[in-house]
Amino acid sequence: MATLRLGDIAPNFTADSSVGTLTLYDYLGDGWGILFSHPADFTPVCTTELGTAAKFKSEFDKRNVKMLALSVDGVISHGEWIKDINETQHTTVNFPIIADEDKKVSDLYDMIHPNADSTLTVRSVFIIAPDRTVKLMLTYPASTGRNFHELLRVVDSLQLTAYHKVATPANWEHGEKVVVSPAISTEDAKEMFSKGVEEIKPYLRLTPDPSV
Ligand code: BEZ
Repeated sequence: MATLRLGDIAPNFTADSSVGTLTLYDYLGDGWGILFSHPADFTPVCTTELGTAAKFKSEFDKRNVKMLALSVDGVISHGEWIKDINETQHTTVNFPIIADEDKKVSDLYDMIHPNADSTLTVRSVFIIAPDRTVKLMLTYPASTGRNFHELLRVVDSLQLTAYHKVATPANWEHGEKVVVSPAISTEDAKEMFSKGVEEIKPYLRLTPDPSV
């Protein structure tokens, strides 16, 4: 299939996982989703990432985001690895890990970048909205573990900007001032945002986070 792009419908799939067979759309229900790939089982960076992800699950739950990991090893391997993750990262893996031995899902989501590694997935992240569209794609190399604070921050931005005509500036965190969408005139923005609009330049207008 053609490479996925932002705004495309996230392809559905049915796959084995550490908690049994699952179908993406059924798993996501009417919520948001985060799908993230790992190069392989029993690798050090992935072990720390999955332990960290487990510790962040309650934060993703609060935001109605279902977590779904993927690695190209099989279900039995995943089961053994999860024991190691729980032991070494002092946590309990509490979301499914897809067992993508035939690389069906990895291919569907273009998670194998042959010039980086011909068989293992890179560290891909897809955030999927309730309407099934892909809202964010990130690609990290195998050698760099991801920052789960950043993934939550991005979810906060995506969810805010899905419901309000705003955008979030550099390093924005939930509760900080946001940027008024360029498509809205300052006059309209002043009516729309009751907490006030600060015009720094005609194209750069700030308003308090409308979600707090
Ligand atoms: C890791 O998860 O530690 C890893 C996996 C593949 C290549 C390099 C590091």
